[in-house]
Amino acid sequence: MAGAPDKPRSARPGTRKVHVKSYGCQMNAYDAQRIADTLVAAGFIETAAPDEADLVILNTCNIREKATEKVYSELGRLRVMKQAAAQEDRAMTVAVAGCVAQAEGAEIVRRAPTVDLVVGSQNYHRLPELLEQARHAPVIDTEFPAEDKFDFLAAPSTAAIRARGVCAFLTVQEGCDKFCTFCVVPYTRGAEVSRPIAKIVAEAEQLARAGVREITLIGQNVNAYHGEGPNGQPWTLGRLLERIAEIPGVARLRYTTSHPRDVDDSLIAAHRDLPALMPQLHLPVQSGSDRILAAMNRKHTRAEYMAVIDRLRAARPDLALTSDFIVGFPGESEQDFRDTLALIEDVGFSTAFSFKYSPRPGTPAADRDGQVPEGEKSERLTRLQRLIEAQQKAFNEGMVGRTLPVLFEKPGRHPGQTMGRSPFLQPVHVTSPSARIGDIADVMITEASGNGLFGTLADEAAVNGRPAPALMEVHKA
Ligand code: 5AD
Ligand code: SF4
Repeated sequence: MAGAPDKPRSARPGTRKVHVKSYGCQMNAYDAQRIADTLVAAGFIETAAPDEADLVILNTCNIREKATEKVYSELGRLRVMKQAAAQEDRAMTVAVAGCVAQAEGAEIVRRAPTVDLVVGSQNYHRLPELLEQARHAPVIDTEFPAEDKFDFLAAPSTAAIRARGVCAFLTVQEGCDKFCTFCVVPYTRGAEVSRPIAKIVAEAEQLARAGVREITLIGQNVNAYHGEGPNGQPWTLGRLLERIAEIPGVARLRYTTSHPRDVDDSLIAAHRDLPALMPQLHLPVQSGSDRILAAMNRKHTRAEYMAVIDRLRAARPDLALTSDFIVGFPGESEQDFRDTLALIEDVGFSTAFSFKYSPRPGTPAADRDGQVPEGEKSERLTRLQRLIEAQQKAFNEGMVGRTLPVLFEKPGRHPGQTMGRSPFLQPVHVTSPSARIGDIADVMITEASGNGLFGTLADEAAVNGRPAPALMEVHKA
């Protein structure tokens, strides 16, 4: 217990170090940054080394059982680190944030007594105060508060934005009202809430001023966005994208994750009309069988999904599509699974994520009859992934010989190499002294691997001495 005579001393205020480790989706990655920003404003400094931290925060994911179990094994390692710190008369506080915190609350402290604080995903703005309380006894805060955490979380400093690179996430929407029968998100993240346009635009402007070139708008169900516009009326995601594309310096826009049911005309128009909106879209379908789609409560059929894709491709013919798939959902027969393979053949994805169904406590599908044996799930997953890999390989090989605009993000793995992304989100590796991070330059693609592309700068001289082409376009607008 804190305050007990043998309790190790805390480090002096002002020198406290925090380590935030994030698991799971982009939303968690974004939240981890805002948690760090808030704690830096409260006097902490960030450290990449958990063993030297005074405060370690695990920002957790519980979308599948494996993700949840990972948290408990990490907590085991932290218990050892905390004991080692105590031997040096140094207190280490361990906090669990994110979706496991939200779903399991006090159960976490019961299973892992090393945890001092459990904080749900809507309460990060309260962290400084909760940490103070946790000095005395373990604290659990998983209530959904009345206030909006974004109004209280600290904004990142310009230096922090720069350190995080030229591509940034920006949360525009949180929560989900869809209630797919396999999914914990509606329970852990709550009902859909959209942030107002003015706040999103201000945040995007701040990112752009600090040098960010690409913004990905994120939300659990991002195209259900309906935030308040300047006129007091709700704006769609399409209209929000149009507004953000006007911000000088923002060369590239993306958004994720979308639901097929919420693709409306304004979003399709955005894909047609906005050069900054990149031609790549993650549109999870989960299954190609109408029977399973209905059992999943996806609220759309296979034909409706295909119709949405036709409309999107009519607006943006080069659109690359990616998706999520679940194999072995309760009741999935071999024929249902083949329907999924057939859908993949029909659409042609640039890549996809695929998972074995994982029953999640409290979700409707977890207790259903017809659970598919693990071995069958594994076998289906292998078959599905083989097909996706073949499509990804064909998609990447189709780029060889083409010239693509690449946004350079970071140094590559090999000396002299720089890594960037194509408009279709493929990693592109270029070896050239002229490739500068933050530039968008034309790259001649010379080679494709399963996961990425290799190329040379189309015009070495063009990159130096003038703004990258997409930036000039934005300035002209
Ligand atoms: N089991 C397996 N995969 C799941 N997903 C969500 N819940 C589950 C589950 N219980 C997958 C879906 C979703 C992605 C983020 O995770 O494919 O789109
Ligand atoms: Fe989960 Fe379905 Fe909502 Fe996506 S749409 S977050 S899969 S409930």
